[in-house]
Amino acid sequence: MTWLDRGWQIFAPESGVLDWLKTAAPAAIEASRDHHARAEWLRCDGTWFVGVDTLPNDPSGKIGNSGPLDCAALDAAQKVSGVLPLHKGQVSAAYPGYPKRGPEESKGAYKFRRVRDAAHVDGMRPAGNARRRFLNEPHAWILGLPVTECGQGASPLVVWEGSHEIIRHRLNAILQQHQPEKWGRIDMTATYQAARREVFETCRRIELPGIPGEAHLIHRLAVHGMAPWINGSVAPVEGRVVVYFRPHLNQISDWLKLP
Ligand SMILES: [Fe+2]
Repeated sequence: MTWLDRGWQIFAPESGVLDWLKTAAPAAIEASRDHHARAEWLRCDGTWFVGVDTLPNDPSGKIGNSGPLDCAALDAAQKVSGVLPLHKGQVSAAYPGYPKRGPEESKGAYKFRRVRDAAHVDGMRPAGNARRRFLNEPHAWILGLPVTECGQGASPLVVWEGSHEIIRHRLNAILQQHQPEKWGRIDMTATYQAARREVFETCRRIELPGIPGEAHLIHRLAVHGMAPWINGSVAPVEGRVVVYFRPHLNQISDWLKLP
């Protein structure tokens, strides 16, 4: 079974990732400590640094003197999407106590974060006060690269196994009625919520704690989130740090069509 069947796959540690981390890990940690970046990206009362686009890599993944990012997970991803330039990586750092409730979060959203790991599909973030959902960022895949060595309870990524096919089926039922150019303007809120409910009722919840050198590949349509930090979990002072890449597809229709 691969990520295309289950919606997720762990690729065992390999030298390509470990070599890359020699430069990328200190760069990621430095990014998560930067004052300006922290002012912009700390959430959940300081227990999560979201760190979108904060890793200083080039489109091949190179940072400073490092080589390009080269690993089996990236090869598997690009076999499906074609080669896509990498954006600056997201540096996601979780800290003990995650999630606390910050001023940016409603009571309901906070409860969902605690109880349901803030489960979501990337690319359909809620917009405005009414939190309506539109397909605004068609990502190709999500590639996670653990940076720090942590215990199992240090807010691992969570994936609902097989959820990508439920999401595909439900969203396709609506979107196939429209030209792809119009997909970004179709309100998907009700469909998305019903699909997510079905996922919670029928799919297995899988936690993916990682170790440096591994690569985690998540299907673009998979429901995923981040687990609360379990008290006493082992982690370095930098927290549980993971770098994520999730480049956009060139064609929005590929979001539902590709394997
Ligand atoms: Fe996400």
